[in-house]
Amino acid sequence: MRYLFLFFCYIKSEIPSQIHLSYHDSKTRSISWVTFKKSPQYLFLSERNLGRLKRSLVFQNNEKVFEASTEIFFEPEMKFYGKGLTRPIAPMLRYIHNVTFPVTIGSYSYMVGNEEAVSEKLNFDVFDDQNLNILAIGDLGLENAVTYDLLKTYATLIDINMVMHLGDLCYNLHEQLGMKADKWMNFIQPVAAQTPYQTLPGNHEKYFNYTHYESRYKNVARTANPHYYSFDIGPIHVLFYNNDFYFRDLNTDWGKRRLQNQLNFIKRDLKKANQNRDAVPWIIVAAHHPLYCSNTNHQNACFKPMPFKNGTVDNYPVGVESILMRNKVDMVLAGHTHSYERSFPVYDFDVDRESSKNGNNFFQPKYPIYVTSGSAGNREELAPFSEKQPDWSAYRASVYALSMIKANREKLSLYQINQHGTLIDTLAIHK
Ligand SMILES: [Fe+2]
Repeated sequence: MRYLFLFFCYIKSEIPSQIHLSYHDSKTRSISWVTFKKSPQYLFLSERNLGRLKRSLVFQNNEKVFEASTEIFFEPEMKFYGKGLTRPIAPMLRYIHNVTFPVTIGSYSYMVGNEEAVSEKLNFDVFDDQNLNILAIGDLGLENAVTYDLLKTYATLIDINMVMHLGDLCYNLHEQLGMKADKWMNFIQPVAAQTPYQTLPGNHEKYFNYTHYESRYKNVARTANPHYYSFDIGPIHVLFYNNDFYFRDLNTDWGKRRLQNQLNFIKRDLKKANQNRDAVPWIIVAAHHPLYCSNTNHQNACFKPMPFKNGTVDNYPVGVESILMRNKVDMVLAGHTHSYERSFPVYDFDVDRESSKNGNNFFQPKYPIYVTSGSAGNREELAPFSEKQPDWSAYRASVYALSMIKANREKLSLYQINQHGTLIDTLAIHK
């Protein structure tokens, strides 16, 4: 009955939903949204708060209209309902609209839709990115979304340059024939429509070969590949990639090729970023599965060899740890294990203790620092730790929390904040 009601809402309403802002580079943003019927769609964008002087000169008639490009997403589970089988009541087709457009520093308001139906008026800011504020969360679901209010509050009150969601969204996008994804995208819209919301896929996005994830989040990447992509944002080069690929379809040629293509991208990208340190001093790499963790759930996976860390496929090395170290990556972010854990600078379990006097401030560390921030809150609750804390582990806590990252050219800091807004851990890397 509930599905029937939802279905009629979908059919009746053409008001666009699931609105989502993405960052492509300092001068380019992208906005995506969904309708359930085909119609021409537009972004109505206006720059506001230009200041009194400027306002009198240029504020008149400064609304711009962009026509959206549209892609159709066919719900993959529908193909199982052949002739003679009753098809479940759910939208079979979704229309995913997108506009990519130029920006300058300032405040914008916008609506999406057409003359017949438009969204509510939404706002976003383009901040100066030389003093960055980034929010990072992992494993936030629709149920038990403990840090959601905190995330929304920070995204609204503070000048946040972007949110990074480190995989495992919604729990799960494909459920209820994709209607769970519809609910998720609307649930997160108050954050994602005002702050660039950058994602990567986790194991919870694997179903139907990640298609629900790809349909909703294609435009987080300038290249339209939301599995692996990168950009410079102020003083940081950020690389997102999908290390869930290491668990899928490696018995097939195309699965191996997919992994190899990604690995080639990572190598090329980090080499280039490392040569560009004078302009962009920091490198952060993000993927869902942590290279270092000490949790005991997931059948003790943290204590087993991890293929994405230093494994091989057909005797060819495919792990990334040595690539991260060689290119002097500063910080590696992950989710997956539902807790917070932060390492000392470490490579292949060799811990660099020389770069820090107090364990929180690091001066030109030899190795990357690994941070797992996987406890934003979801229906699977929190993960326990091993009894003994490993040598490489600087701090760990099994609590609901999110990360705030701040950066300027001299310092890259991370602040871990629990669900009550209390600071539980800090780290800073100094040039
Ligand atoms: Fe996961």
